[in-house]
Amino acid sequence: MNHPKLVVGNWKMNPATVAEAKKIASRIKIATAKLEHTDVVICPPLAFIAPCSGRGKHHKMLMGAQTVSPETESGPHTGEVSVMMLRDLGVEYVIVGHSEQRKRGDTDEMVSRRLKAVLESGLTPILCIGETVRDDSGAYLGSLKNQIKASCADISYKDAKKIIIAYEPIWAIGATEAMKPEDIYETSLFVKKVFSDLFGAETSSKIKVLYGGSVTFRNAHDIMVIGKVDGLLVGRESVNAPGFIELIKVVDGIK
Ligand code: PGA
Repeated sequence: MNHPKLVVGNWKMNPATVAEAKKIASRIKIATAKLEHTDVVICPPLAFIAPCSGRGKHHKMLMGAQTVSPETESGPHTGEVSVMMLRDLGVEYVIVGHSEQRKRGDTDEMVSRRLKAVLESGLTPILCIGETVRDDSGAYLGSLKNQIKASCADISYKDAKKIIIAYEPIWAIGATEAMKPEDIYETSLFVKKVFSDLFGAETSSKIKVLYGGSVTFRNAHDIMVIGKVDGLLVGRESVNAPGFIELIKVVDGIK
């Protein structure tokens, strides 16, 4: 396990109002004050980043964004938000290549451009990868490998060290159950092996691999301990303040 452990909350397009968002964020901030071995990042919708943000003396909650423009220069890019703008808001982490973005048209090439923009700005990218289906013949491993290779095209060895990988099997996102911890362990080893082939064993040993897909406070312990991942990417449970707070306590308590 690479320390500190990392828990990232992907709020997706939730909650409905800024007042609710501020309430959830402030409860999480209070809970992070006592954490010793875990970093907690929340990724609210763009409109809620400023109201929820703020590195504080009394908490350790960090801010992330759910995506970013591949464009780095200000200009005629309607609807886009640049990595510099996010940085200015206090954002330190950016999710790239989430399957819900890929489903809406993000190609590996777009993901790689977003990844490069984040790395160039000095922020930390959380690169999402994951197979659509898990077949018995193991063809999904080939598709995972291709996804990693294509998303990381033209990334230098130096930058590769800064990437956090979030392995999220698409079939386990928004589902009733997470992937089995034993299978998470096997696949995270495979992900590290692919990374090692691309960027060397030393880089691969340093990168964090997170698991995402139906994580709750109930399954977080086994996913971390049996799945041997460095952290978690949490969707629905991350906007349920009591559940998320319990989850980060469970993770922080793991030696
Ligand atoms: P979920 O979402 O925890 O609600 O399954 C995870 C994600 O999409 O990152």
